[in-house]
Amino acid sequence: MSRISQLAIISVLIVVGIAWVTFFRPMGEHMASSPHMSAPQMSEGSLAKSTPIATGLTIPNLSVVEKLGERTFNENCAVCHGKNGAGNEGAGPPLVHIIYEPSHHGDMSFQLAVKNGVRAHHWPFGNMPPISDVLEGEVANIIAYIRALQRANGIN
Ligand code: HEC
Repeated sequence: MSRISQLAIISVLIVVGIAWVTFFRPMGEHMASSPHMSAPQMSEGSLAKSTPIATGLTIPNLSVVEKLGERTFNENCAVCHGKNGAGNEGAGPPLVHIIYEPSHHGDMSFQLAVKNGVRAHHWPFGNMPPISDVLEGEVANIIAYIRALQRANGIN
């Protein structure tokens, strides 16, 4: 191989390398730094990446109202509370957990949590911010959804 074509190959590699760093790396960094507290919204893709704290949950068949609750939950809560309310390692606690059984955390505590936020007291995840986009009626659906998951897992 001539020296010229060697140089040509090397410069092509350099250009490709620079292009890779410029166009792909920032995207990777952005994704790595975004999924936490600041953006309580979760795409289906990042939902799949949440690491559950409560494992081996039984997922029940859901009524129409519970399904509506599931959708609102996935859009607004799952980033911290995990898919199926199973918690998300490093972000937020499972709501399908004995702590949140109806006699200890009644439905009103869900409404208040969303309206006012929650000061960290049971878990090491920090405070929950108020989730102002979610209306009272939508929280009622979320409660129906979480209670269905709790019942299916022996939390009554
Ligand atoms: C930014 C992360 C985050 C989001 C988003 C979030 N939560 Fe929370 N939530 C937390 C954390 C952390 C706690 C636990 C605080 C503690 O007890 O240490 C918590 C606690 C709660 C509690 C328990 C309240 C209590 O009285 O102890 C309920 C109920 C709750 N969240 C419901 C929701 C619902 C419903 C949504 C969506 C509308 C939601 N959360 C969204 C982080 C979040």
